[in-house]
Amino acid sequence: MFDHFDILAPVYERVIGPPDPARLKRLLRLPTDGWLLDAGGGTGRVAATLRPFVGGLIVGDQSLGMLQRAREKQTVHPVRIQVQQLPFADDSFSRILVVDALHHFFDQFAAARELARVLAPSGRLVIEEPDIRRLTVKLVALAERMALMGSTFLAPEVVCAMLAAHGLQASVAERDRFSAWIVAEKPSGGT
Ligand SMILES: C[S@@+](CC[C@H](N)C(=O)[O-])C[C@H]1O[C@@H](n2cnc3c(N)ncnc32)[C@H](O)[C@@H]1O
Repeated sequence: MFDHFDILAPVYERVIGPPDPARLKRLLRLPTDGWLLDAGGGTGRVAATLRPFVGGLIVGDQSLGMLQRAREKQTVHPVRIQVQQLPFADDSFSRILVVDALHHFFDQFAAARELARVLAPSGRLVIEEPDIRRLTVKLVALAERMALMGSTFLAPEVVCAMLAAHGLQASVAERDRFSAWIVAEKPSGGT
């Protein structure tokens, strides 16, 4: 099946540029001895910068092209996943990260259910997502629609409500002129 990210993979990191690991490290409350899942983690662009601060790290993605780039980094474990149906046991990860990927997940409600399921009690999920209320993001959304990428951008508060429906305590922790950072915690009693 045609996957836009298989095509984009060779140039992806040159186009997108480096991440801001300081903010993510703070929001994820790193370091941790536990494992981090970077869901929709692509080439491992972000995950590789966080590797020194976690006990173990999996980059999960559906695109083989993106995962091939992640494999070249050697410090991360690339795993082919569909985020709507994760191949991991309940409560596996103490941290989960989703950067610029939620709007690409074709069933975001099922993805939220799965992320909540594999997050350990007292674990932390951070979602960085373009804020669709910003004009620049609306233009990106239009471009992705014209490219038939099938993206669906949800407002940050809608994402929080979706995570809450799966038992997580979620809030918008930070915003800038393009993105919002949503932080969700799983109560120690489970979902
Ligand atoms: C814009 S890229 C972001 C990659 C990475 N998080 C980063 O910031 O560099 C979105 C990624 O989500 C992945 N993706 C889209 N839908 C997915 C799904 N249903 N399950 C797993 N990965 C998915 C794509 O293959 C792509 O690598």
